[in-house]
Amino acid sequence: MKSKILKILREADTYVSGQIICNQLGVSRTAIWKAINQLKVDGYQIESITNKGYRIITYPDAITKESLESQMKTKTIGRKVYYQEEVDSTNNIAKRLVDSTSTAKHLSNYSENHGLLVIAEHQHAGKGRRGRTWVSPKGTGIWMTLALTPQISPTHASMLTLVTALSVAEAIRQETTLEAMIKWPNDIVVNNRKVCGILTEMSSEPDYIHYVVIGIGINANTETFPEEISPIAASLKLELSKEKCKDQLSDDSRLNKENNQTINRSHLICKIMENFEHHYETFLQTESLINLQERYNTLLINAGKQVKVIEPGNQPPLTGTALGINPQGELLINTGTQTQAIMSGEVSVRGLYGYV
Ligand code: BTN
Repeated sequence: MKSKILKILREADTYVSGQIICNQLGVSRTAIWKAINQLKVDGYQIESITNKGYRIITYPDAITKESLESQMKTKTIGRKVYYQEEVDSTNNIAKRLVDSTSTAKHLSNYSENHGLLVIAEHQHAGKGRRGRTWVSPKGTGIWMTLALTPQISPTHASMLTLVTALSVAEAIRQETTLEAMIKWPNDIVVNNRKVCGILTEMSSEPDYIHYVVIGIGINANTETFPEEISPIAASLKLELSKEKCKDQLSDDSRLNKENNQTINRSHLICKIMENFEHHYETFLQTESLINLQERYNTLLINAGKQVKVIEPGNQPPLTGTALGINPQGELLINTGTQTQAIMSGEVSVRGLYGYV
C-alpha cells in the first residue's frame, strides 16, 4: 500500500486528493491517512492541505522496499525488492531466499525469483572477489544483489558480470557528471579509483543453471576508507566534490568547502536496473556480448594501455597492450608477437605501474 501511494504521489509531482487515491487503490480514506503517516515516519516530508490533498516535499535518502518499488520502471528486473537493514552479505541472503523457495524436485520454482533484488543498508560480512572482504558501512553505499534464473549455458554465465558492469558504468554517467569507466572485467573506476565491485555466484548442474546472483557494491556516499584500500578506493560523492572544487578553483580560485554532492541512491539503483534489463535482453538474443561489445569497449579503461595479467602461482605475468573484449567477454592482449584472449576468473589485470 505504501509503495502504491508513493508511486501515485511521485508521478503526480503535485497535490493529489485523498479521494483520488482512495478510488485508484480501492481503500478507505482512513487507510490512506494511516499509510501517509507511516511514510512520514519513514522520513518522507508530505504536505497535506484541505481541499487539495497530499504532496511529497522531500524524499529520504534511505533505501526502502517502498521507495524502490515505487520508482522502478522495469518489467521484471528489480520489480520485487527484499530489504533488510543489516545482513551478513546480500549475496548470501539472495542465495538463501532463492534456495528456500525451490527444491530439487521443482527446479522450475527457481524462476519465481527471477529479477529479485536484495538490498541492505549494512553488511557485516560483505564478500569481495577471491575471498576478500568488502567493506560495507551503514547508510552510505549501495549493497545489493540481483537474482536471475537465466536459461543459458552455465559456461556463458560469467558474461553476465560484464553486462552488469556496463549497466552500472552507464548509470553512473547518466545520473552524475562523473566519467565512470570499466576496468576489465567488472570493476567500475572513476579517476582511476575503484567505486564499484561486482561479485557473481552461481548454482548450477553441468548443463543447467538453477540461479545466478550478481552482487553489486557501490561506494556512493562513503566519506572515508580503511587505510589498506584508501589508495585505490573512491566514492561517487568524493569524486564529485573534487570535480566541484576544480570548477570552483577555475571560476574564482576559491574552494567551496560546503559542497554537498550526495548521491540519490535509489535513483541510481533504478537506473542500473533499467540499463541491466535492456542489456540483458540484448545478451540473451545471442548468449554473447556481440551486440554489447562496442559499448563495453568504449568504456574500457584498459583499452590501448599496457597491462600485466597476474595468474595465481608464480608464473611471470603476461604483459602487453589491452585491445578490448571479444564477443565472449575475454580480454584481448597484444603481446607484441601475438594476440591472446584472457578469460576472467582467477586472473587479475593491472596497469604496468598501478591499479589501472
Ligand atoms: C569485488 O571484490 O570487487 C566484488 C565486491 C562485491 C561487493 C558486493 S556488495 C553487495 C554484494 N554482497 C556481497 O557480499 N558482495 C557483493
